[in-house]
Amino acid sequence: MSYMERLPRNRTYLMCPPQHFTVEYAINPWMDTTAAVDAELAVRQWESLRTTLTGLGHVVHVLDPVPGLPDMVYSANGAFSVDGTVYGARFLYPQRANEAVEHRMFYQRGDDWRFVAPEHVNEGEGDFAYLPGAYGGIVLAGYGFRTDPAAHAEAQEVLGRPVISLKLVDPAFYHLDTALAALDDRHVTYYPEAFSPASQRVLAQLFPDAVLADRVDAEAFGLNLVSDGRHVILNTEAVAMGHKVREAGYLPVHVELSELKRGGGSVKCAVAELRA
Ligand code: ARG
Repeated sequence: MSYMERLPRNRTYLMCPPQHFTVEYAINPWMDTTAAVDAELAVRQWESLRTTLTGLGHVVHVLDPVPGLPDMVYSANGAFSVDGTVYGARFLYPQRANEAVEHRMFYQRGDDWRFVAPEHVNEGEGDFAYLPGAYGGIVLAGYGFRTDPAAHAEAQEVLGRPVISLKLVDPAFYHLDTALAALDDRHVTYYPEAFSPASQRVLAQLFPDAVLADRVDAEAFGLNLVSDGRHVILNTEAVAMGHKVREAGYLPVHVELSELKRGGGSVKCAVAELRA
């Protein structure tokens, strides 16, 4: 298939500018508290990601950044929405706990969303992905580092969609969205070795035509991408991953996000999809 045949779908996203971005605590192996972060550069790079998305015709809502919440730029972790229902996040580490409150207030501002507060620890789209066109609409869910597997069952009850639990085994890829991404409504790309052997089997059974990534792709945060079904937005370091998605018929769009990598995230971490 060529990208001319891959049709984009207009999306609505939620992002939060990295005005207060720092690396002052380390909760994943990418975070080095001794290396200086350039918050101004981070904001400029974030801005180019935002305008790339709006330039492609998507709507981007912006959450006000809160001082003292340096990881708030990773807005994907704040909640997970499917067909107008929002399953709220509950962060594992206390340093990020208040981010969930900010996201909750965003959804509860109007009457557009049915917001459900979680009982179990889960980090939103960091560990949940939705494939509306696969098997009638399924959720893929990661566990092993952050999200409690009990939250997978809770999400299934809240959202009324089958939730497939996948076990992450490599601390470098601590969230599902560092190891797997939806390329469109029913196709995924993933790095197999980030998952347990049994979870690799599950993925191979469900997605025999997946685009497989390797360790170099994953370490470049090449799986941490956002796709509208045609355009695949990846960071500039993920060159080989760009070739792979092009080969699969998508159009790669690269954005420089070097500063956000210092916190252990990239494109997808900074973009939550709002599924009304
Ligand atoms: N420093 C953040 C953390 O470790 C990075 C979160 C990345 N977000 C993501 N969706 N993977 O929690």
